[in-house]
Amino acid sequence: MRTLRMKVTMNCYASLQTTLQQAPRTWLVTGVAGFIGSNLLETLLKLDQTVVGLDNFATGHQRNLDEVQTLVSPQQWAKFRFIEGDIRALDDCRRACEGVDYVLHQAALGSVPRASPTRSPPTPPTSTASSTCWSPRATPR
Ligand SMILES: NC(=O)c1ccc[n+]([C@@H]2O[C@H](COP(=O)([O-])OP(=O)(O)OC[C@H]3O[C@@H](n4cnc5c(N)ncnc54)[C@H](O)[C@@H]3O)[C@@H](O)[C@H]2O)c1
Repeated sequence: MRTLRMKVTMNCYASLQTTLQQAPRTWLVTGVAGFIGSNLLETLLKLDQTVVGLDNFATGHQRNLDEVQTLVSPQQWAKFRFIEGDIRALDDCRRACEGVDYVLHQAALGSVPRASPTRSPPTPPTSTASSTCWSPRATPR
């Protein structure tokens, strides 16, 4: 049963990869310079997707982006646009969402005290929510 479930999952993933390569999408990855964000960036670029990355380098690093550049082709890297900005700034979010099909939201401060509004006024706290994916083009239900 477990092997069957694993096979189904692997088949779904393989089929999704094929679908995405045949009809590439545009993705926004917030927190793209972080651990998870930069791994998502690498995976998406290797699937020939277009990626917009948003990060304020609070805990992320330019070296993570540099490393991804060494792992993908120049053509794939050309499909990446980086915006240094903050998810708490509406204008940065609007700019980052332009023409985007899906948002993979990874920007966060892992520490609850650091993200607390009592510690970082006057702006709202950076999300500490778990990773999220949503589509700005999806029809609300
Ligand atoms: N790493 C894990 O094992 C793990 C496991 C489960 C869930 N998560 C969750 O996944 C998310 C990402 O984790 P990670 O390990 O990649 O953390 P990370 O610290 O490496 O990456 C977070 C990124 O978000 C950026 N960021 C923070 N505040 C920002 C802001 N206001 N505007 C723009 N960018 C901002 C940081 O600069 C950093 O690049 C977090 O929500 C974390 O709780 C991580």
